Amino acid sequence: MTLNPALITSSYAAVEPHGTAVTKYFYAHLFAHHPGVRPLFAQHMEEQEDRLWNALGGLVANLEDTGTVVRILQGLGARHAGYGALPEHFPAVGASLIAALAHFAGDAWTPETEASWAALYETVTAVMTDAMAAAEPKAS
Ligand code: HEM
Repeated sequence: MTLNPALITSSYAAVEPHGTAVTKYFYAHLFAHHPGVRPLFAQHMEEQEDRLWNALGGLVANLEDTGTVVRILQGLGARHAGYGALPEHFPAVGASLIAALAHFAGDAWTPETEASWAALYETVTAVMTDAMAAAEPKAS
């Protein structure tokens, strides 16, 4: 799988005008397919939809600036250690994220676009789960 930044940027540009409808769709998809994670989140999701939307925009905007992206993801990962998020949740979140992006990207979505997002998400998962593990109290 190869990450083509141009495909991430162009598909995100197609999705962006839909705003938090995208993150709303994402959470509906996630909770429908993985109801077990629903209790980790607050009952009202509006604020969370905004936060995830802003985080996604920040990642895409800084895609070519690896140092910044890694710093953002390490901070996010460390905070997720306190949210009850587990490494095994990441594939479910990735599948729902890709479903949401594909839904809103329309014609801008191709198999190559999907492969790029999947490759990006693999990197995001690796950096966040490393930071989550480092932030957790070590078992003795
Ligand atoms: C691409 C991966 C992910 C991104 C970009 C992301 C992004 C975010 C952001 C921006 C927040 C707001 C708080 C903060 O900035 O610390 C947040 C909170 C949260 N995330 Fe994630 N997240 C990701 C993966 C996951 C996964 C795999 C889970 C596991 C179920 C998860 C569960 C949560 C929970 C429970 C909260 C707190 C919600 C609350 O305060 O009610 N996240 N996430």
